[in-house]
Amino acid sequence: MKKMMRKGLQVCLLLLMVGRLQGRVTAPERLVAPVEKPFNLTCSVSRDRGESLRQVRWLDVQNQTLLSYLPGQRDSVSGQQHVELLPSPKDTSVITIRRVGFRDEGCYTCIFDMHPSGSKQGQTCLTVTSHVATDGNKTAVNGKKASLSCSYGLPEKVKQITWRHTSAQGDSTEVASFAKRSDPMIEPPYQGRVWLSNSLSDSHLTIQPVAIQDEGCYTCQYTMHAEGEKSSTVCLATYVLPKPQVSYKTTSPGVIEANCTTVSRPPAEIVWNVERDNRTMGPPVTTQLPQGDGTTLVISTLTVRSGLLKDVSVKCLVHHKGLESPIAVSMNTKIGTALTILISVTTVAALLVMSLCFCLWKCFLRKEAD
Ligand SMILES: *[C@@H]1O[C@H](CO)[C@@H](O)[C@H](O)[C@H]1NC(C)=O
Ligand SMILES: *[C@@H]1O[C@H](CO)[C@@H](O)[C@H](O)[C@H]1NC(C)=O
Ligand SMILES: *[C@@H]1O[C@H](CO)[C@@H](O)[C@H](O)[C@H]1NC(C)=O
Ligand SMILES: *[C@@H]1O[C@H](CO)[C@@H](O)[C@H](O)[C@H]1NC(C)=O
Ligand SMILES: *[C@@H]1O[C@H](CO)[C@@H](O)[C@H](O)[C@H]1NC(C)=O
Repeated sequence: MKKMMRKGLQVCLLLLMVGRLQGRVTAPERLVAPVEKPFNLTCSVSRDRGESLRQVRWLDVQNQTLLSYLPGQRDSVSGQQHVELLPSPKDTSVITIRRVGFRDEGCYTCIFDMHPSGSKQGQTCLTVTSHVATDGNKTAVNGKKASLSCSYGLPEKVKQITWRHTSAQGDSTEVASFAKRSDPMIEPPYQGRVWLSNSLSDSHLTIQPVAIQDEGCYTCQYTMHAEGEKSSTVCLATYVLPKPQVSYKTTSPGVIEANCTTVSRPPAEIVWNVERDNRTMGPPVTTQLPQGDGTTLVISTLTVRSGLLKDVSVKCLVHHKGLESPIAVSMNTKIGTALTILISVTTVAALLVMSLCFCLWKCFLRKEAD
């Protein structure tokens, strides 16, 4: 008895399904369309024997006619500007929304007017989406300006944007926020050196002057009216640029010890242009001393024979990520100028002596001739 009932039920279900499939329009129920991109909508109808398709109509989210046409007649297509009919197999209709916008969200209806059975319709509901975009990690020079930005293609869906800072130690604090119909809010610790644009689609956070503590990652968090939260993160590195100095002293006769010193963040790399010369007494010795403020003092000590200074210009070259090209500091500029002055003085003196001799000689010759 039970078995028979189950069989009967199965047959019933089968009949029901066939009944629903007959003359049915197939359309995806829900679709997600990325904003500012073209998007295709597809519907197809299964036609019974002897049925013919007279007209296809598409209704937009307001139930207004989006597009309509008579199958097989190209010049019968009429519709709104932002949609286009695409070529498709028989009994299928494909239209494209040229550029999806916020207003395109909603349910679309496709209607197949059949003869003699009347119209059959299907529906597809579109959700328009976007993602939070950033322009990537940034670096800024201590004391200068840093600009961070985030964008979101559907500002209509956004209630508020909040920027948070997370330091390398993991401490997270709110920096600034902006909500529709209000002014940007800057949290007290950042007031006076942080600014936020009053835009939900393109949010710019500006920090000026940038401090070492501003380093870390910044999360822009979009709070939506309906879809929860979306966020993206950019990281900021703060540089302190090197300002190298060279000092030297004679440690024993004919031997000079030179130091090239600089404070920077991250630590600079120091090399000497004479490292391959055989008059250097071993390779340079580098010491790194982390300072309390996040910078590092780097000292490179090179010991050379003093004879080297007479022949070549000894330079220390400081390489740093924040510099386009290394900074070169010459060691013998002072010796060079002293030498130049000495040569000049000597030359002038010699000239004076020579002209004096010439004078004396001329006078003497003249007297003798008389
Ligand atoms: C829409 O359909 C056309 C034709 O089939 C295809 O070339 C195009 O890539 C499709 N576009 C999208 C966004 O799927
Ligand atoms: C469009 O028509 C459908 C029924 O066909 C209805 O449920 C829907 O609310 C209508 N939408 C608008 C925006 O009028
Ligand atoms: C940005 O920096 C963070 C931390 O330094 C790193 O984890 C992430 O991969 C970087 N992202 C890009 C796109 O370089
Ligand atoms: C070079 O630096 C060292 C410390 O690293 C110091 O002891 C030495 O006196 C310095 N020499 C010169 C010439 O400044
Ligand atoms: C250094 O090398 C030069 C040749 O390049 C050589 O003439 C000179 O003797 C060398 N000096 C020392 C101190 O080794």
